[in-house]
Amino acid sequence: MFRPIDSSAIDTVMEIQQAAFDVMENTEILRANTRDMLIDCLENHYSMGAFVVDDNGIEKMVAFGILYFPGSTDENLAQYLYDDIKNYDIYANMKLIIVLPQYRGQGLQRTLTEVLEYEARRRGIQELFCTVSPLNTHSHNNMTASGYEFIKLVEGKYDGASRNVYHKKLQ
Ligand SMILES: CC(C)(COP(=O)(O)OP(=O)(O)OC[C@H]1O[C@@H](n2cnc3c(N)ncnc32)[C@H](O)[C@@H]1OP(=O)(O)O)[C@@H](O)C(=O)NCCC(=O)NCCS
Repeated sequence: MFRPIDSSAIDTVMEIQQAAFDVMENTEILRANTRDMLIDCLENHYSMGAFVVDDNGIEKMVAFGILYFPGSTDENLAQYLYDDIKNYDIYANMKLIIVLPQYRGQGLQRTLTEVLEYEARRRGIQELFCTVSPLNTHSHNNMTASGYEFIKLVEGKYDGASRNVYHKKLQ
């Protein structure tokens, strides 16, 4: 079950991020987002949660994804593809998707990507970008399978960690 989430979900979002770091072999794979950064995403951008209902009928968020509208800030990844940008507002970032370790292997990253793309189209976004660590094979495979094309490697993008940048034109 997928549902948009807002800043009231911040505690669970932080717990999911922490759970991902707890099992990560190399922490260069993911940028550790601060609580304030994530609250900004939840309040001012667009975030989607994936929920399951446990045996006791209690709903639990097991994954989330964030669609980020960078406007003309440095976060706009279109800078890596285009030299002369007239309208920054047609670009957005598939910023972050995290799945709780116990719920991986069900294609939740791909499904969340699709759901966020639907919202991006609805808001007039024409092209999407994302960054993936060269060490993150699972995310690379998922984003490639979802139609994202590798553009370039940016060395030292986040706190010295390199990132591959990907791009997709929405139909
Ligand atoms: C990347 C990520 C979102 C993918 O999760 P997902 O959608 O559940 O992955 P998939 O359904 O494509 O899983 C495919 C296979 O890889 C395995 N897998 C997925 N991520 C894995 C990981 N980080 N470590 C080990 N195995 C993993 C799954 O168990 C599955 O194996 P199976 O086919 O034997 O069942 C998830 O690994 C994650 O949250 N990683 C940490 C955060 C992150 O890197 N986000 C992306 C930032 S760009």
